[in-house]
Amino acid sequence: MRIRKARKEMTTRETFSNLIDLDSYSPDEWNMIVELAQQIQKNPALYRSRCSGKIMGTLFYEPSTRTQMSFQTAMLRLGGTIIGFDNPSTSSVSKGENIKDTTKIVSSYADILVMRNPYEGSAKAAALTADCPVVNAGDGGHLHPTQTLTDMLTLKNEKGRLDHLKIGLCGDLRYGRTVHSQLKALSRYEGNEFILISTPELALPSYIKDVLNARGCTYKEIYSLDEAITGESLDMLYMTRIQKERFSSEEEYNRQKDVFRLDTEKMKKAPKDMIVMHPLPRVDEIAMDVDDDPRAMYFTQAKNGMFVRMALIISVLEGRLGAPKLLTGTIKDDVECTNPKCITKTEHYLPHSFKVQGDICECEYCDERILLD
Ligand code: CP
Repeated sequence: MRIRKARKEMTTRETFSNLIDLDSYSPDEWNMIVELAQQIQKNPALYRSRCSGKIMGTLFYEPSTRTQMSFQTAMLRLGGTIIGFDNPSTSSVSKGENIKDTTKIVSSYADILVMRNPYEGSAKAAALTADCPVVNAGDGGHLHPTQTLTDMLTLKNEKGRLDHLKIGLCGDLRYGRTVHSQLKALSRYEGNEFILISTPELALPSYIKDVLNARGCTYKEIYSLDEAITGESLDMLYMTRIQKERFSSEEEYNRQKDVFRLDTEKMKKAPKDMIVMHPLPRVDEIAMDVDDDPRAMYFTQAKNGMFVRMALIISVLEGRLGAPKLLTGTIKDDVECTNPKCITKTEHYLPHSFKVQGDICECEYCDERILLD
């Protein structure tokens, strides 16, 4: 009975300006954040007390350099302060505390929570019960919306636009949360085309292809980085790491690693104005000497992440974004999500919520599709 009451609260309570998936907001709202980031970049001193007295909680259950530190620096540069953990083993998570209790408590101390967790849909699960806005800093192989805002700021600064771009995405398109978020966002702008460069095993999940199809986007899947660089007149090449931590076995990872490598020989054949982006960290997929090429934009991109996160924090805390509902589908507690990395596999109190279309249920946490018998 108590569980049922708690579930009802999760699905009916008022919500905040959470950023779980950029799709919850409109391109106008994304543009507003990117434009504010450009203003901050021009004159950061103007914003140094903007969040004075505010506290950000950073809950990182997975390792991070850029996302965690750029969020923390962003808040400090806005005059706010930070609390949190970057290793769950130093918090009461190591004693078995669930996400609901951890986020409930930290959200009663902080004004905004930023969370990274290896389970897909974890940020949404946290937002269901948190008492302040929650920002998704990466939920497993699912989404990474603030990386996409970073990518958008970089494209806007370097290319002057977010539309009519030909973009190559290379590497781990299957588990690459940065790729998923970027495609979902950039497919909303007119005239963008995507060249998807991966092995068949690491191809883009079908639910993201369906998004591209539904939006009438042109995309092509190819298996050769050389072919993409020489034959596709790319405006931007987005390299990604083959993520060892997402594979179920070392053998599977070993078969995929080192397939794609960008080096100076390939860069000689690339369009003169093709910028290279990468969410980082890199392993071997971009040779170090490419760093000296003026088209290599990944370090600038990482720095842009701090400015765009400053703009996001201001937008959330000053109520510039709406408060979209978190669960809009149908609760079907008798249906189990089939994704072993879905947050419902570890947080058993969560309502099983699905968008139902005929005999297909799409999990509202991780987007996995389940075919009903
Ligand atoms: N781009 C990115 O998410 O980097 P980190 O894993 O270092 O945060």
